[in-house]
Amino acid sequence: MQIGKLNHVGVATPSIEDSVKLYRDLLGATKIHDAFDLPEQGVRVCFVDLPNSQIELIEPLGADSPVLAFLAKNPKGGQHHVCFEVPDILAARDWMVSKGATVLRGGEPRIGAHGVPVIFVHPKDMGGVLVELMAEPNH
Ligand code: CO
Repeated sequence: MQIGKLNHVGVATPSIEDSVKLYRDLLGATKIHDAFDLPEQGVRVCFVDLPNSQIELIEPLGADSPVLAFLAKNPKGGQHHVCFEVPDILAARDWMVSKGATVLRGGEPRIGAHGVPVIFVHPKDMGGVLVELMAEPNH
């Protein structure tokens, strides 16, 4: 296991539309992608490009969205997870499990917002930070 590039920082929000205004009008972001639904993960997603990374705005989608619990505790939204690239997602998953870390949803990688497999490591095993690991793009 070796941590790779920071791919994005996930930011939960009750309204992607309102958050886009902050990143565009207050912070001056110029490249903001169209939002899209990820029904299997219960989220609507919008990527804001930065020179060296991305912000992933995530809004709850549906009554079972995992983001709803986060917003119940953080009504205005907030920093939700960080995502690092790894060269081999299954090897990363096996490494995490072998170290006793809890990989969410049974450790089964799912296709994430970038179209590559991802896993999530429980924040209790990562100093309070929900960590997403994603296969490097273009694999
Ligand atoms: Co993410």
